[in-house]
Amino acid sequence: MGLPSSLKTCLILLFICLLNVSTISSKPLTKETVLFGGNFPALYVIGDSLVDSGNNNHLDTLGKSNFPPYGSDFEGGKPTGRFSNGKTIADYIAIYYELPLVPAYMGLSEEQKNNISTGINYASAACGILPDTGKIVGECLSLSVQVDLFKKTINKNLEKKFKTQPELSKHLAESLFMTAIGVNDYSFFYNETMDANDFANKLLHEFFIQIQRLHGLGARKFFINNIKPLGCYPNIIAHTVPRGSCDDDLNLAVAIYNAKLRRSLTHMKQKFSNTSFLYSDYFNFMLGLRGPSRNYASSNLLNTTSPCCPSVYDGGASTFCNANSSLCTMRDTHIFFDPFHPTQLANFMYAIRCFQERKICHVVGD
Ligand SMILES: *[C@@H]1O[C@H](CO)[C@@H](O)[C@H](O)[C@H]1NC(C)=O
Ligand SMILES: *[C@@H]1O[C@H](CO)[C@@H](O)[C@H](O)[C@H]1NC(C)=O
Ligand SMILES: *[C@@H]1O[C@H](CO)[C@@H](O)[C@H](O)[C@H]1NC(C)=O
Ligand SMILES: *[C@@H]1O[C@H](CO)[C@@H](O)[C@H](O)[C@H]1NC(C)=O
Ligand SMILES: *[C@@H]1O[C@H](CO)[C@@H](O)[C@H](O)[C@H]1NC(C)=O
Repeated sequence: MGLPSSLKTCLILLFICLLNVSTISSKPLTKETVLFGGNFPALYVIGDSLVDSGNNNHLDTLGKSNFPPYGSDFEGGKPTGRFSNGKTIADYIAIYYELPLVPAYMGLSEEQKNNISTGINYASAACGILPDTGKIVGECLSLSVQVDLFKKTINKNLEKKFKTQPELSKHLAESLFMTAIGVNDYSFFYNETMDANDFANKLLHEFFIQIQRLHGLGARKFFINNIKPLGCYPNIIAHTVPRGSCDDDLNLAVAIYNAKLRRSLTHMKQKFSNTSFLYSDYFNFMLGLRGPSRNYASSNLLNTTSPCCPSVYDGGASTFCNANSSLCTMRDTHIFFDPFHPTQLANFMYAIRCFQERKICHVVGD
């Protein structure tokens, strides 16, 4: 598992490159300039397929990606269960904070769990905030189950690694907890006959119950990714009129959730002492990759509507990316690797926008 040094160097070099190009007074990258402080001993990941690093490999579900062409640009060119040709945004967050890539909980032996103190990934493709979300395609770990598993990690594993309660509390309070979840609740359960405010409120109520549970278990630093602009994804725009245009109603419903989420975090910060939140505006990041104001570093991500796999995609149920799918010739010109998920390059651009430009990631209250 070690640090992927080549990509890390690449990431750091690109930060420096862009810094030199885009800022006149090029400040050195000192520890003080690390977004959200850094120095996290661990990254714990809660979420869905955007950040699943292989949990669904071990579950009985159609929501899997542990076969080629997934992972073709990952280290060793091997599928891992990540829903991309390479790294996910959780991987780039780990790299930025100088942590190892975070292994999937379901793939770890008890011995490995006892030995890991740099973070575990509980994210599960197809699942969401509501307990039934995604279950139509098979087993997955819903938000509350992911938090249950984290609690189990504390009681069964971390309590062995950290011999005293103060040591354990310190580890938990200093660790970073990333969440990226909720889009599947929209995919499976939202439709336009519903009140978008009511639906968002229902999701947020459930979401914050679990955030409070994590806080109760000792988490103090949260990296909260908002929900993507689902209405502009290939699986949706294959069915819009005119074909290829975003479903604005669906995006508006998601945007309502995101705005409420952002406001709730401000309230949570006031309610909980010693707790901080980073809000990541993934929605506007992905819209920006698609939008007319695309510029320099993302300029070769020209294909903003079609997945790379399958390269001929009509939105039909039988056109999921699989071993027999036709592939695009140049992955690095596509935003989307499959009809639901971004390419590694799009994920890398996220890291640039979030950590270097700091346009989409903001520490709440700053
Ligand atoms: C425990 O982790 C350390 C460092 O991550 C590693 O070098 C060692 O091989 C691991 N031991 C076991 C038993 O997995
Ligand atoms: C929308 O969802 C509601 C509640 O699940 C359901 O009763 C209704 O049939 C759905 N409408 C459409 C158009 O799918
Ligand atoms: C906040 O954190 C500091 C340092 O970790 C600790 O000393 C203090 O007791 C904490 N305050 C509360 C209210 O938890
Ligand atoms: C996007 O990629 C698909 C599949 O490779 C291709 O058929 C389509 O023409 C491309 N569109 C643009 C605008 O480049
Ligand atoms: C791919 O094609 C082969 C040969 O036609 C077939 O046996 C296999 O089931 C297909 N795999 C998938 C995932 O569709």
